Amino acid sequence: MRRKLFAANWKMNLTPVEGRALIAALRAILDPRAAQLARDRDVIVAPAFPVLAAAAQALAGASIALGAQNMHFEEKGAFTGEVSAAMLRAFGVTYVIVGHSERRQLFLESDELVGKRAAAVAAARFVPILCVGETADERDRGRTLEVVMRQLQAGLAGISTEQARRVVIAYEPVWAIGTGRTATPEQAATVHGALREALRDRFGATTADALPILYGGSVTPENVDSLLAKPDIDGALVGGASLKADSFARIATSGLA
Ligand code: PGA
Repeated sequence: MRRKLFAANWKMNLTPVEGRALIAALRAILDPRAAQLARDRDVIVAPAFPVLAAAAQALAGASIALGAQNMHFEEKGAFTGEVSAAMLRAFGVTYVIVGHSERRQLFLESDELVGKRAAAVAAARFVPILCVGETADERDRGRTLEVVMRQLQAGLAGISTEQARRVVIAYEPVWAIGTGRTATPEQAATVHGALREALRDRFGATTADALPILYGGSVTPENVDSLLAKPDIDGALVGGASLKADSFARIATSGLA
């Protein structure tokens, strides 16, 4: 059975003090259920870079893992504003989000750049969470699958079948992010099914069938269960609702008794 993953993407929110407080509140709810969670899912938080140190400390001994929101593909050098694999490793990061639509849209990251980042993340033995998703305009023009497939192929261009065993895909329709307008479970399931097929073609069924495909875009405690009920939806990448301990904990425990 595929493991589920619930990832909190804090984006550019929370200072170190606020991040520490949120983790303490999350742990109060999730730590008592650690054994139950560990059976079928992973839970991570992805703070902004300057909050990683505080978050790492606050997570000591927790079953919640640490993620980063981006990573450069070079080991070091003149890349102002970027961070390297070694820097992230120093804080115990194990997951790295790449190709988030905010990076693509607001910071003009190309498919090719996202592919280089994803390859470097995998080569550094972190788990890349590769985000793909269409804009409202692309959906309206019937181009959803064409766009997400292009992003998927380019994003995975430098990933071997061996490395693909430790990759996560996140389908995040741009029109659903931060808008309160979630994709219906059916809309999401159609794209997740197509992504799974493409992953089978690329890596073979065994690898593709073990790889979590998350949904992201206005996931809430109210809609998470119906999304997770779809066979190819294996978890959630959560923005707004991850900034409150009770709502993210509710999402991360979706489907548990
Ligand atoms: P949202 O963000 O949950 O606030 O829509 C999701 C994301 O961008 O990962």
